[in-house]
Amino acid sequence: MGLFKSVLFIIVFASFTVANACSNGQCKLLDECSSNEDCEAGLYCSSCPQGFSGTRCVRTTITDQFKLLNNSLPFNKYAFLTTHNAFAIDGYPSHTGVPRVTFSNQEDSITQQLNNGARALMLDTYDFEGDIWLCHSNGGKCNIFTAFGPALDTLKEIEAFLASNPSEIVTLILEDYVETPNGLTNVFTSAGLMKYWFPLSKMPQNGKDWPLVSDMVANNQRLIVFTSKRAKQDTEGIAYQWNYMVENQYGNDGMKAGSCPNRGESSPLDDKSKSLVLVNYFYSIPIKQLSCESNSGDLINMLHTCYGSAANRWANFVAVDYYKKSEGGGSFQATDMLNGRLLCGCDDVHACVVRCSQHT
Ligand SMILES: *[C@@H]1O[C@H](CO)[C@@H](O)[C@H](O)[C@H]1NC(C)=O
Repeated sequence: MGLFKSVLFIIVFASFTVANACSNGQCKLLDECSSNEDCEAGLYCSSCPQGFSGTRCVRTTITDQFKLLNNSLPFNKYAFLTTHNAFAIDGYPSHTGVPRVTFSNQEDSITQQLNNGARALMLDTYDFEGDIWLCHSNGGKCNIFTAFGPALDTLKEIEAFLASNPSEIVTLILEDYVETPNGLTNVFTSAGLMKYWFPLSKMPQNGKDWPLVSDMVANNQRLIVFTSKRAKQDTEGIAYQWNYMVENQYGNDGMKAGSCPNRGESSPLDDKSKSLVLVNYFYSIPIKQLSCESNSGDLINMLHTCYGSAANRWANFVAVDYYKKSEGGGSFQATDMLNGRLLCGCDDVHACVVRCSQHT
């Protein structure tokens, strides 16, 4: 073997061994990988050029705080991963007969989002084709080119999840353009979701605590729905979101480091008469390639900023695009951080099991 060949052999051999340092479900967080099957359970093989070279195993599931600890605290003492525009899914088949021309915000189906631990879904509801559809907005009217599909399909997936996960609670946050009287009530009824409905009468006023999660589970009142249309609280008993929640600015204006202003519809974040806090952190136009970075350290920093703006309250909901894109822990680690902070004052919910020593 000549020198050139030997060097080439060593280079090829070295890269071969690096690429195969682990495989068959044994690759750990941030190990190099070539397929999802290489990675341990709870991880998948993904790229993030801003964060690391090549493809590595990154997180794909949340830590279920109820299973890790217990569910005996009020609902507002926990944090939940929230998928922004959960219905706007890459490759979602056209249901209109014409190709869709609009952006997407997520890659996974609703069922996958829920199975991976998303517990709040943001959905945009419209009157369309004599039915209720999920759609990207076009001046408050659903456009045939931007429609995703009937809300019923998505709600049925949520019903199936609640039926097979009897201890889990799902929150739906509707950007609601439906004008049809009882349009939402009818579609929730058709989907078989009314039996899980958490009643308005049990939602706390004036900043009081929510019911205990354990009681919500025992009563099977495990679906919380908020609408952005104020009138529906009286007409259909669907909670008007900003009576119960404060929320920061969404889109690019909500991503300026060090500031966490409220969105127009919401009270200021420090209004403690609303018991729930939601933090949005996603670009105005979703860009998948940028999400891995924005879902990582920048998101954690914003959650700290919003904690200050919200009168020292940690977010209950953290809403992102492409929730699985990250530099390693991403939106899952951010939610684990929030639950750690909320439940025991630690920076990770896992530390609550062993009592962390980092109270700050
Ligand atoms: C449930 O978990 C919380 C948070 O760790 C803890 O403060 C509480 O004591 C636990 N309750 C029960 C009944 O174990």
